[in-house]
Amino acid sequence: MATKQDEDYLKKAEAVDVYPLWVMHQQRPERPKVEPVVWRWEVMRALAYEAGELESLKGGGERRALTMRNPGLKPFGIAGSTKTMSSAIQIVWPGEVATAHRHTAAAIRFVIEGDGAFTVQDGERFRMTAGDFVLTPNWVWHDHSNPTDKAVIWLDCLDAPMTGYFDAMFQEPFPEDTQPVTKLPGYTNATIGNGMMRPVDGGDPTKVLPLTYKWADSYNTLLAIEGNDPHDGAIMEYSNPVTAGHAMPTLACKLQRLVDGDHLEAHRHTSTVIYHVAKGSGFSIIDGKRLDWSFGDTFTLPAWSMHEHGNDSGDEAVLFSMSDLPVIEAMGLFRAEDGQRQEVTGTIG
Ligand SMILES: [Fe+2]
Ligand SMILES: [Fe+2]
Repeated sequence: MATKQDEDYLKKAEAVDVYPLWVMHQQRPERPKVEPVVWRWEVMRALAYEAGELESLKGGGERRALTMRNPGLKPFGIAGSTKTMSSAIQIVWPGEVATAHRHTAAAIRFVIEGDGAFTVQDGERFRMTAGDFVLTPNWVWHDHSNPTDKAVIWLDCLDAPMTGYFDAMFQEPFPEDTQPVTKLPGYTNATIGNGMMRPVDGGDPTKVLPLTYKWADSYNTLLAIEGNDPHDGAIMEYSNPVTAGHAMPTLACKLQRLVDGDHLEAHRHTSTVIYHVAKGSGFSIIDGKRLDWSFGDTFTLPAWSMHEHGNDSGDEAVLFSMSDLPVIEAMGLFRAEDGQRQEVTGTIG
């Protein structure tokens, strides 16, 4: 029980912007909490197409990107899909150019719909086809163009909440709408021997390259392995071909396949994950709540939430995911724990 002496002390501390730790521990102010939440493809696709018609965006070079805000963070003014990552659905309308710029936030893209749009990154043109996974590393110039007669839609994921947390978010527009294409197609891959050879001078292993991982390659690789993980089925990570480490210094991206009848083991870990359904349908049970997902849905897995994945759809399912694992590892924070099959007490979405 607080005495007058306690209260006087607290007032004195507050007057000089000091907060005694023993008081903080008792009061436990409400903190933003990432919720497991799903954004349905049907809803996001309709919103994206509607944005494609908006006059206000025409010719402005603005990104027609729809950021998915986590409802647990929104009351605290945090815009991310999780505390560490933001994801968005972006549409590039036929004939449209998303103008060139660069920023310190690193981005990845996973193409959902369309074929024949391209992104130019530091002077190299990369074609974008559904299922492709594209890196836009920190401070790489990038613009996107869609010369086809159909919209192209992809999932963007950025480490922007982390960059913002460190007050290290910088952005610069390119002086022109688009940057000149100065490199031959395949230039970046050629400089690293397609990941199978390396420059004899060692290159620069710290440089993150603007690579594209084609769907056909990634999916066929996944088909070639059996379920290799008790929690994730058949799972592979997109790796940096130079370092064999994570695809990005801040984001780990994976592709996993669940076959019909899978009900994988439960576990939890300190890394936060955003999943995107690349193929088929299935379910996840997160902290006792069942989420039935299907093609194009995007959902969050909060850190340390018990989860298990399954597939009872009658066909295969493929999940693309990105997580903050590289940062968690760099901070020495990675922990994981196996769990029991959960009793379902509710649903998500
Ligand atoms: Fe950008
Ligand atoms: Fe997991």
